[in-house]
Amino acid sequence: MKLFLPLLFCFFTLFNSCSAANVTYDRRSLIIDGQRKLLISAAIHYPRSVPGMWPGLVQTAKEGGVDVIESYVFWNGHELSPGKYNFEGRYDLVKFVKIVQQAGMYMILRIGPFVAAEWNFGGVPVWLHYVPGSVFRSDNEPFKYYMQKFMTFIVNLMKQEKLFASQGGPIIIAQVENEYGFYEQYYGEGAKRYVTWAAKMAVSQNIGVPWIMCQQDDAPDPVINTCNSFYCDQFKPNSPNKPKIWTENWPGWFKTFGARDPHRPPEDIAFSVARFFQKGGSVQNYYMYHGGTNFGRTSGGPFITTSYDYEAPIDEYGLPRLPKWGHLKELHRAIKLSEHALLKSEPTNLSLGPSLEADVYDDGSGACAAFLANMDDKTDKNAVFRNVSYHLPAWSVSILPDCKNVVFNTAKISSQASVVEMVPEELQPSVALPSKDLKALKWDIFVENAGIWGAADFTKNGFLDHINTTKDTTDYLWYTTSIIVGENEEFLKKGSHPVLLIESKGHALHAFVNQELQGSASGNGSHSPFKFENPISLKAGKNEIALLSMTVGLQNAGGLYEWVGAGLTSVKIEGLNNGTIDLSMSSWTYKIGLQGEHLGLYKPEILASVNWVSTSEPPKNQPLTWYKVVVDPPSGDEPVGLDMIHMGKGLAWLNGEEIGRYWPIKSSKHLECVQECDYRGKFFPDKCLTGCGEPTQRWYHVPRSWFKPSGNILVIFEEKGGDPTTIRFSKRKTSGLCSHIAEDYPMVDQESISKDGNGNDKTRPTVHLKCPKNTWISNVKFASYGNPTGRCGLYSMGDCHDPNSTFVVEKVCLGKNECAIELTEKNFDKSLCPGTTKKLAIEAVCS
Ligand code: GAL
Repeated sequence: MKLFLPLLFCFFTLFNSCSAANVTYDRRSLIIDGQRKLLISAAIHYPRSVPGMWPGLVQTAKEGGVDVIESYVFWNGHELSPGKYNFEGRYDLVKFVKIVQQAGMYMILRIGPFVAAEWNFGGVPVWLHYVPGSVFRSDNEPFKYYMQKFMTFIVNLMKQEKLFASQGGPIIIAQVENEYGFYEQYYGEGAKRYVTWAAKMAVSQNIGVPWIMCQQDDAPDPVINTCNSFYCDQFKPNSPNKPKIWTENWPGWFKTFGARDPHRPPEDIAFSVARFFQKGGSVQNYYMYHGGTNFGRTSGGPFITTSYDYEAPIDEYGLPRLPKWGHLKELHRAIKLSEHALLKSEPTNLSLGPSLEADVYDDGSGACAAFLANMDDKTDKNAVFRNVSYHLPAWSVSILPDCKNVVFNTAKISSQASVVEMVPEELQPSVALPSKDLKALKWDIFVENAGIWGAADFTKNGFLDHINTTKDTTDYLWYTTSIIVGENEEFLKKGSHPVLLIESKGHALHAFVNQELQGSASGNGSHSPFKFENPISLKAGKNEIALLSMTVGLQNAGGLYEWVGAGLTSVKIEGLNNGTIDLSMSSWTYKIGLQGEHLGLYKPEILASVNWVSTSEPPKNQPLTWYKVVVDPPSGDEPVGLDMIHMGKGLAWLNGEEIGRYWPIKSSKHLECVQECDYRGKFFPDKCLTGCGEPTQRWYHVPRSWFKPSGNILVIFEEKGGDPTTIRFSKRKTSGLCSHIAEDYPMVDQESISKDGNGNDKTRPTVHLKCPKNTWISNVKFASYGNPTGRCGLYSMGDCHDPNSTFVVEKVCLGKNECAIELTEKNFDKSLCPGTTKKLAIEAVCS
């Protein structure tokens, strides 16, 4: 009986290659069981969402035309102290890989174990920095010992569960190290030895599938070196026997607290991907396809926001981001329609004029695909290819899977866009509470001492490094001292204020004198060290100075990054009778962490044993305050974000689960922001920024699976003061759809392909609108066939407009979950404004 069990399992799984697959490669592509493949891959980091979201995310990627899911393995989430492993909850790696397998998809496992990834400490456990003699990512015995031990552990776990393709599993590629090539210069001669060692160690694990090293020009054979960049069409692997693999195409970018919002336009992402496959690329991975959330204190940086949305094709909350997701889905289809021809023949490169080029994959026996590119970043052009003239917008690629018909152009977005809102809902007191007045929320309050609580940890002259002291067990470290102010001080008589001057290596600070908050300061994404300069209130006699130093995510990349410190370096007071006094070498008393953290105030199981003070009116603008409130979940089943717009800075939990750091700090309104982004030309993270003067992060994702039907415990620790009565759960809703396409837009989807009079395929431009499930198009806010202008939410009619437009759209779409409208004579007056290419713009409401 035993013998048949694995067979039975294979029979019942959806994955079609339960039997071992042979994964090899040559210069053109990966070869899986003798078959060449062009693969679209999508990064979804398992700890950046929750297991309840994994099947949906993987499915949405699959529907988006993705073949492979890629993730790093997050060492510091798995090995909490040497040899103490964690694979629970969000860290259940095996479960995640099996979900990918069940979806019939492949997996790329980037084990690292260094990952960067805007993840705390780049994924390496903080404890390893304190193992005597260790130097990360170098030819260093302690580091290599722990790295090998962890990699072997992960490989063995995957083997045990039969998850490598060589065993019938989904994993077709594994990665060792990550972008070490960028930083080798910092590690001297040992760097090369380390690379060779890492490659050898990986290969000796015998996983039966290829290993890769990204951004590593000298990756030793048989390890494949791969490209990470916004564009990789010009990339060449270091051997003619290795395929061209793009491990990180960044379809957006990460955010840092206090900075503006970066945007990468879908047209440019599609351009980069099309160019990659045009130029012989074989595996392309979006980093990120779903960015997700840096729950708890997992974000790195420093200053990386709790949201890791990344403006990825699937948003932080798990909804497809439109039109990005849809545009890339159509691109993937166009590439797949060309796959056979692309893999069958060598390309012929043709110049079609200045900045115009074609790559034609023609095997001479019918399989033929062509990519026509206009690399000019300003001017649209016409290119003649095989006696046909093609219009190519600036900075675009047209894909012709049969060398004749354009099914996709990277600059023409025919996918719908969506209007997404965060709909607030007041916090609802839990029905489970034995309260008479169900309308009033009951708050529990706990206030921290501004300074040492309990017994001090130690006293020392001068400053210790913050990180070396806390070892990242907490964000918080108190540095406290006192000064005696004589009664004859002039400032006391004048009623003026001396000035407190502080210098810190990072990352943020609140200064208290005699229990009163005097001010705060912080570094920013590009510069951790900062200065604090604030007038303070001192009294005659003894004054307690308590400085709360904070980390906001540890350094996650760079040469020798683990040695970057944080915390105070200088403290002075200016404006005393004796001028300026320097307290830097005074006696400082330290306390690691907060009392509330020590008591575990956020843990549901010990809440009862703590001296919370109950009130129906929680204090506002009060620093160092813990708030607890028991609430019901927001109605409906939409994803939820916690609106913290009127709070200061701190940490939040629901039912003991860590929501993470909140900090609605605003970016400067004096910086430059764009109204609209020009997709043309090379992208870089600062190219298209919005959100000047706005909070970088207002909403904080609270996964639905963390809510119970009632009695949910929301705990907030507020550092500097806010208004807890304004906290809301907001529901993420797609309330509207837009579409804006022109008559000359190519269509990749099968339904819009028909034969013309000569028996050739012809695509008919069609608008597709689809509301989220269980919602219907209830209103057509705008519809114009003619020359409408503007963008989603801001369309306006031009001087050419078919007055029947709204009627036609309403007739087809009202009351439907989805609908399609062709730009044909049957529907619209094509004789309008002759000689112009007409467009159809629609904005509709889903409810
Ligand atoms: C790369 C790195 C990734 C991530 C990315 C930016 O350099 O390999 O882990 O940090 O940059 O999001």
